[in-house]
Amino acid sequence: MSAAVAKPAPPPQDTTDEKLLPGEHTLPASWWTSQKVFDYEKKAIFARSWLFVTHQQRFKKAGDYFSYSFMGWNFFLIKTKAGEIKAFHNVCRHRAYPVVRKQQGSSIVLGCKYHGWSYNTDGLLTKAPHFNEVEGFDPKANSLFEIRSHTTKEGLVFINFDNTDQYTPFEEFFAGLDQEMAEYDFDDYEYHMSYELDGEFNWKTLMDGYQECYHCPTAHPGLNSAFKMETYKVVPKGNYCRHYAKIVEDEIEEVEEEDPDTESSWFGFGKKKQEKKKTVKTRENPGGTFNGLWCYLFPTNGVNCYSPAFYSIRVLPIAPSRTILQYDIYTKKGLAEDKKKEFVDFLQQVEIEDFNLCVQTQKNLNQGIYSTGYLHPLKERGVLHYQGLVKDMVKRHFELEQKEGREINPARIGGKQNSSEAQELEELCSKIECQGSNPESLGELDW
Ligand code: FES
Ligand SMILES: [Fe+2]
Repeated sequence: MSAAVAKPAPPPQDTTDEKLLPGEHTLPASWWTSQKVFDYEKKAIFARSWLFVTHQQRFKKAGDYFSYSFMGWNFFLIKTKAGEIKAFHNVCRHRAYPVVRKQQGSSIVLGCKYHGWSYNTDGLLTKAPHFNEVEGFDPKANSLFEIRSHTTKEGLVFINFDNTDQYTPFEEFFAGLDQEMAEYDFDDYEYHMSYELDGEFNWKTLMDGYQECYHCPTAHPGLNSAFKMETYKVVPKGNYCRHYAKIVEDEIEEVEEEDPDTESSWFGFGKKKQEKKKTVKTRENPGGTFNGLWCYLFPTNGVNCYSPAFYSIRVLPIAPSRTILQYDIYTKKGLAEDKKKEFVDFLQQVEIEDFNLCVQTQKNLNQGIYSTGYLHPLKERGVLHYQGLVKDMVKRHFELEQKEGREINPARIGGKQNSSEAQELEELCSKIECQGSNPESLGELDW
């Protein structure tokens, strides 16, 4: 695909309908600190969104797998014998022990180390010691729980924990993303390295900074000299936002060069010196040679493409004030080691600047002094946009639970009980949960 690939587009011009409307406010700070809101976001947002995980090139052969944890959901991706990437909950169907224990590995047989059940790369139960003696035991009904997954034309792998029939198909959730990504040749890049940061801040504190570059002139001197900040533009496109910026081109100067062949002869009056000119780069841009193609992928991920490399970020919410950031960097095939290092240094400098902004901001959000602030309608419209998605999804889920009068967790699988007794006991548990341990209220239970 390389030859036909266009380079990332320059930032679009502001149009006349993009008026500077009066600024809107951020969501209230309580949404950045509340444990209840955090738990709610898990059901309302994270169990309903397509979550970027990795690039398919990391899986070379059948059986290659990578395991992850997202908001406590342990899962893994594996390349099947047919060459597909599939996602499964990392939960044995026997007694829930994790099937995969390493972060990465390769095996076409996945053996559980508790009682020895085994699964193949399609998640099918292939061995369950002594269960062949058990009448009516159906291995197919005890296969691993599969998670919806989607691999794009460019090899980006996404999952969606939504296990309901109302899930949003990938093409709808990220409509248009494929065309955007086609401006970059992912095949020309190879995995280089990963690193992780562990921060004391809410996942949205990071997204707030990620979704605008209003802060860049103040906070990112390095990024500032690599891209023309006055051209930086965030364009919301549904559940993703494209970030544009024009690259600062390498500075090239013509300098005179003396040609040694035409130097004066050593007895003083040889040929006349000839003037030759050559071009030299007086400054090379660590951000590369073409415009940025950066995409924020709601809710917590991003894929950012530069000419020397692209990198992805997975943002893992751990607690209201704790978030883990995982970066994977892929460099251009054949790029010299010193250039790889230069790019990684450039990136890490920007990331640590953002990280420090988040730590200090969160400390203040936690104190209950500040609640909301004005957002610039153009410079911070990416923030406005994604916070709007957060608000809408949380409100919609809340209304649905109110209407149905029960808790709804779209990621739930085990709730569909296969025996009526299990169903009854599940309901009993819900009643105990609702009424707590008050002995009087327990008396109302239908024992
Ligand atoms: S929990 Fe996996 S075999 Fe028993
Ligand atoms: Fe930043």
